[in-house]
Amino acid sequence: MVRVTFLHPDLGIGGAERLIVDAALALKKSAHDVNIVTTHYDPERCFVETKNGTLPVIVVGNWLPRHIFGKFYALCAYIRMIYAAFYIFFIDKHPDIVVCDLVSICIPILKLFIRHTIFYCHHPDQLLTLPGGRLKSIYRLPLNYLEEITTGQADKIFVNSYYTAEVFKNTFKRLSVQPEILYPSIHTNFFDSIDIPSLDITLGNKKLPEDSIILLSINRYERKKNLSLAIDSLFALSNFLTEDEFNRTYLIMIGGYDKRVNENVEHYEELIKLADELKISDKIIFLRSPSDHDKISLLKHCTLLIYTPPNEHFGIVPLEAMYLRKPVIAHDSGGPKETIINNTTGYLIPELSAKAFAEKISVLIKDKLLRDRFGDAGRDRVIRTFSFEAFMDQLNNTVIKLIE
Ligand SMILES: *[C@@H]1O[C@H](CO)[C@@H](O)[C@H](O)[C@H]1NC(C)=O
Ligand SMILES: *[C@@H]1O[C@H](CO)[C@@H](O)[C@H](O)[C@H]1NC(C)=O
Ligand SMILES: *[C@@H]1O[C@H](CO)[C@@H](O)[C@H](O)[C@H]1NC(C)=O
Ligand SMILES: *[C@@H]1O[C@H](CO)[C@@H](O)[C@H](O)[C@H]1NC(C)=O
Ligand SMILES: *[C@@H]1O[C@H](CO)[C@@H](O)[C@H](O)[C@H]1NC(C)=O
Repeated sequence: MVRVTFLHPDLGIGGAERLIVDAALALKKSAHDVNIVTTHYDPERCFVETKNGTLPVIVVGNWLPRHIFGKFYALCAYIRMIYAAFYIFFIDKHPDIVVCDLVSICIPILKLFIRHTIFYCHHPDQLLTLPGGRLKSIYRLPLNYLEEITTGQADKIFVNSYYTAEVFKNTFKRLSVQPEILYPSIHTNFFDSIDIPSLDITLGNKKLPEDSIILLSINRYERKKNLSLAIDSLFALSNFLTEDEFNRTYLIMIGGYDKRVNENVEHYEELIKLADELKISDKIIFLRSPSDHDKISLLKHCTLLIYTPPNEHFGIVPLEAMYLRKPVIAHDSGGPKETIINNTTGYLIPELSAKAFAEKISVLIKDKLLRDRFGDAGRDRVIRTFSFEAFMDQLNNTVIKLIE
């Protein structure tokens, strides 16, 4: 048995958090002793395994500021994580291994007293910050340098896709280390254990009719996720569907939403406004930070998934939809190129255009047999290539090898 601690900045409900929770579950299932240390945790916005006792969570340093007058988010996150790294030192039993992700600055500190560190790189952090003025680039310069140097100090580096491996190589030019690909997986037992016979989502206060066509979009309320593409595609669908088909079509948008994050709050309003302008607000339901139950209910009962972000680093949602036998329509870039097989488990659309998305969506809406065929192929692909067992073995072997 190896003692493993996961160190993660904000244990919310995004893809990065899902990966950390699944990795912790996988190591626990491999009979290791696992816990999670985080600098922010909200029981209203977290995965169920972190609050039902399956995975112990320790919250430290939440009192430290997240920003200074709306600026210096990265610097504050670094300070919070350094604090959390020191905290691990004071835990009764030292972990043998610490797995961290997102913020690499804590690695040299961990190395002072932890034998082995693993870094999971979802994407280089420096590419995630929005461009700013000259002052911002001066401020980022040392942070970027530190990110590169400290990332290189991990004993083992994982990335989530070949796409990210390529980005890693082009960003961290000073590092010669080859990161290993550890594809995220989904905890399929969990999906199997939840039985939801019919959709229990309402529009306003009326239930959606039985014969509704439901398009689902799942993504945080962030501009880079290009959620407006889903709304524009619904609007464009009127050109490809009969009036009756279009009348029965609804779009449900669900996504992580944190009221402390301005962008989430603003973007949510922007999308509602867009739907109003296009006069299709009565066909769209917006849900914020849905429970696992609601999310799985929708995945099970939707017609198909629209996945809008371009250059997504991996994208766990397409896998979840595929496992639940839903075709996925996504832009032909980033992780979806590795998860979706075009014209077999869904469609990869070469342009970011609502018309192109709508055209392929309409093909699937009109052809139930095709949807079923895509759905079966999708499930098959997840089980074959992204199984939880394979994910678990890869992690277990890494942990065992490091210790030896
Ligand atoms: C973990 O890996 C070790 C070494 O490869 C192996 O002996 C052990 O059975 C594995 N544990 C599980 C639960 O697969
Ligand atoms: C988002 O999608 C629209 C089409 O609805 C496209 O014109 C635009 O370039 C995309 N924006 C981003 C940031 O990807
Ligand atoms: C579609 O909906 C519109 C507006 O509610 C209605 O006027 C029209 O009759 C409907 N068409 C069909 C074919 O149901
Ligand atoms: C898509 O797949 C179908 C068979 O499922 C095939 O008949 C069709 O030619 C394919 N389309 C393209 C453009 O490859
Ligand atoms: C995916 O297949 C469709 C035809 O089924 C084709 O129109 C589209 O261009 C293909 N996408 C890519 C990225 O090759």
